[in-house]
Amino acid sequence: MNIILLGPPGAGKGTQARMLTENRGLVQLSTGDMLRAAVAAGTPVGKAADAVMKSGGLVGDEIVIGVISERLDQPDVKQGVIFDGFPRTLAQADALEKLLADKGIALDSVIEMSVDDEVVVARIAGRYTCAKCGEGYHDESKQPKTPGVCDKCGSTDFKRRADDNADAVKTRLLAYYRETSPLIGYYYAKGRLQSVDGLADIDEVERQISAILG
Ligand code: AP5
Ligand code: MG
Repeated sequence: MNIILLGPPGAGKGTQARMLTENRGLVQLSTGDMLRAAVAAGTPVGKAADAVMKSGGLVGDEIVIGVISERLDQPDVKQGVIFDGFPRTLAQADALEKLLADKGIALDSVIEMSVDDEVVVARIAGRYTCAKCGEGYHDESKQPKTPGVCDKCGSTDFKRRADDNADAVKTRLLAYYRETSPLIGYYYAKGRLQSVDGLADIDEVERQISAILG
């Protein structure tokens, strides 16, 4: 099963993708995570993406499509994938159609996570992750069961993203409305779009996604 999670920054794409990985064995393909890893490793892709990501803008289509194309050649994608944060422009969506056709991969569902702007801004402002295993947390809605200790791996090391500040969040939201939101119409017209209430609590969103996936 191969699916796309579509939604603005803070919609909960990463949170639900990680749950689908645990529950269904699907592989999470987050272009944001891949680009952050490239920045940390100082690769040519990372060097090209660093400044643009910090500002909250979108990295160039060619770079991101290249990253995804290479990733789709890894054998683990046969388990099924969740595209998290890709595609993000119409050009990326067209390129994905072609890549999937070339590689013989079927797309089963595009799930839109609908939220509202005030909520996503609050979610992003409170977000942090385990520096070791990447489990996501939030200052208000999802704290570790033992304060300061990751529920999943026991690490006491946490981090916040460089683009989770007020200016970059504004730019990310603008980029979403300008470049990514047209994909809702794009996939609706292709008869692939389904929606969940991204404002519901994390477990309810998971149930709604499960109901769609069967
Ligand atoms: P990316 O990493 O994809 O960031 P994003 O789209 O801005 O989305 P986020 O990761 O911020 O949000 P999310 O939907 O994953 O929410 P999360 O689950 O963490 O991209 C970063 C940058 O990389 C881009 O700005 C761009 O520069 C570049 N980039 C990446 N892909 C690209 C592409 N394809 N093309 C070009 N450039 C690209 O949840 C947020 C918080 O809310 C968490 O704290 C979580 O615990 C909490 N939460 C989640 N769900 C709920 C819920 N239901 N109720 C309450 N709290 C919740
Ligand atoms: Mg994410």
